Amino acid sequence: MVGLTTDELSKLNVGDDIPVLVGPLGNPTHIKNHGTVVCVGGGIGVAPLHPIAEALKAAGNKVITIIGARNKDLIIMEEEMKKIADEFIVCTDDGSYGRKSLVTVPLKEICERENKPDMVIAIGPPIMMKFCAETTRPYEVYTEVSLNTIMVDGTGMCGGCRVNVGGEVKFVCVDGPEFDGHKVDFDNMMARLNSYKEIESDKHSCYLDGLS
Ligand code: FES
Repeated sequence: MVGLTTDELSKLNVGDDIPVLVGPLGNPTHIKNHGTVVCVGGGIGVAPLHPIAEALKAAGNKVITIIGARNKDLIIMEEEMKKIADEFIVCTDDGSYGRKSLVTVPLKEICERENKPDMVIAIGPPIMMKFCAETTRPYEVYTEVSLNTIMVDGTGMCGGCRVNVGGEVKFVCVDGPEFDGHKVDFDNMMARLNSYKEIESDKHSCYLDGLS
């Protein structure tokens, strides 16, 4: 079976075939009225965050959205996120657009408000999710993260997506992808992701190559 490289995937046209597609994997997001939810998206993490934020809004939550990227060119889906947000903040690391700050700065400010949020959902690079969880920890605001580990078989058997959550071994493909960010061992997860870096850059490939 031949997988597609990310480059090949990005060049497909409407109507082209994808040789294999696995998913959706894991558990659906638990949507209900929590009260006030802060949705934090970093980089391309904004894409999976959008339907969650939209569903939370439809369930009656007040949705505060913070999106961030390294620079203006890497901000995605701003209009879509703005449309569903009761409050919207955009940040860039270099200050080329919106606030010059990491997403954790406005997140901390929101946690310090008289009415702190009831929940935070963070989706983005692992380092961003780690620091979002560290930002909310002192305020005891439940923080859900959606983990983006390498996946191979998607059935809980290969162990590629293994993470430690609250001292227990979990598989993102069957137990996740969403977990309590205060319990995730992000350092272990990032070390495991780094161990695949060389193979990934060699192949310039996406996870579909695991099925080749
Ligand atoms: S992808 Fe293989 S165990 Fe999750």
